Amino acid sequence: MEKILVLDFGGQYNQLIARRVRENNVYSEVRPYTTSIEDIRNGGYKGIILTGGPKSVYSANAALYDKALFELGIPILGICYGAQLMAHTIGGVVEVGHSEYGKVGLSVDSASLLFEGIDAHTTCWMSHTDYINQIPLGFRIIAKTDDCPVAAMENISRNFYAVQFHPEVMHTPLGFKMLHNFIYNVCGCLGEWTMSSFTVRTIENLKEKIGDRKVLCALSGGVDSSVAAVLLHKAVGDNLVCIFVDHGLLRKDEGKQVEELFRGVYDINLIAVDAKEQFMSKLAGVSDPEKKRKIIGEEFIRVFEAEARKIGKVDFLVQGTIYPDVIESGIGDAALIKSHHNVGGLPDCIDFEEIVEPLRDLFKDEVRKVGLELGMPESMVYRQPFPGPGLAVRIIGDITEEKLTLLKDADFIFRDEVAKAGIDREIGQYFAVLTDMKSVGVMGDGRTYDYTVALRAVTTSDFMTADWARIPFEVLDSASRRIVNEVSGVNRIVYDITSKPPATIEWE
Ligand code: XMP
Repeated sequence: MEKILVLDFGGQYNQLIARRVRENNVYSEVRPYTTSIEDIRNGGYKGIILTGGPKSVYSANAALYDKALFELGIPILGICYGAQLMAHTIGGVVEVGHSEYGKVGLSVDSASLLFEGIDAHTTCWMSHTDYINQIPLGFRIIAKTDDCPVAAMENISRNFYAVQFHPEVMHTPLGFKMLHNFIYNVCGCLGEWTMSSFTVRTIENLKEKIGDRKVLCALSGGVDSSVAAVLLHKAVGDNLVCIFVDHGLLRKDEGKQVEELFRGVYDINLIAVDAKEQFMSKLAGVSDPEKKRKIIGEEFIRVFEAEARKIGKVDFLVQGTIYPDVIESGIGDAALIKSHHNVGGLPDCIDFEEIVEPLRDLFKDEVRKVGLELGMPESMVYRQPFPGPGLAVRIIGDITEEKLTLLKDADFIFRDEVAKAGIDREIGQYFAVLTDMKSVGVMGDGRTYDYTVALRAVTTSDFMTADWARIPFEVLDSASRRIVNEVSGVNRIVYDITSKPPATIEWE
């Protein structure tokens, strides 16, 4: 399979570069700049992209790479720090300058293969201080901005290209086209990476690997484990058993929907455990958020273990690991991943031979496409992330049956109004929080003393930082009216307008 290496020098957009390559139908791998030259030489790469990075080529402990990288005969595109690194390593001069930041006008030489189909004047996103002041021998300058003498350079005989700006971000409107040009015009890729071919190939591989042995999957109802389960089911049918532990803290009707979909529609061997009473009794009177999390995590393992024991030994355990988990764990080792991510502790309590991770090469947006390929409903495929401890961390203070019902109803209405307005796909996460505050209100002739519900909605690309979503006032208005009218015990609605940082996405 043709692939492009994204050599990671620590910049913030590195996964985005890899995603953009894949959106161009070519598989990409992100590997650290410490990857050995032998590994790169033997990797079968059609091209290499050097990413941005936080340091200067002159800083102490700068992330550098040996000159040998430029002697492999593989096409290379340097981006931002990667461009400076290319210049610095093969004979150019990088200087410490003043910062150029934000959207900047860019003049390009449209005759370059990199800029094919791009007008001579366009816009790019800059974020740098150092700049290339002198290009290496054999190069020519192919783009400039007012402040940057070498916004891009090329050496066509060696297939080396470098851009000081960031083509991977949307603020460079034609950046996608530039990456396309590098991948196809320079690297000569054909574009074989599609989710339909991935789906067919993965099902075949799983069939071959697993044969008629037994597979166990912990189904959470989230996107990753659901898509993994359906893939496995297509491959091994009834040899797959899924266990779904409903702790009662899911959103309104979600437990039922999971059962209907997996048992009803897909006819998957599903063991659904209604463990609500067990969780609620353990959580009674507990208001410390970390204690709630710990209780839920431990109880989850206990319930799962009891069910798994009934099944006995299985050959494979499915994990919904995805590519960002693999990259972030550093070396992509399955043993390492499971201790950091997903169902913490789960594998330890199950008797199994091997872990199977059918999604470990995919980014989240690719997992969603596979879900659609498999015919899964959009409501499942585009489901927003939901914390493992569920509504327990959205009820501030202790959890009671009354509060849980109230929050489920309020949250359902908010989500319903957002979806009706057609803005659900633009928002990363949106939900209601039951504060532990009561305040005075008026209803009819009487006074009320009821709960305040907070609505939270954020836009984000990675959930590490987030901005509050500018939901139209009319949508907030109808959600607010409906919640106070339809959910008894609530008389006040507030909208959270803090970004992360300093706030977090969840309230607990
Ligand atoms: P915060 O609140 O830290 O949330 O900004 C970032 C993302 O993590 C999710 N989250 C959790 N997910 N268990 C989880 O599985 C948890 O205890 C937990 N706490 C927060 C949150 O929903 C958001 O997507």
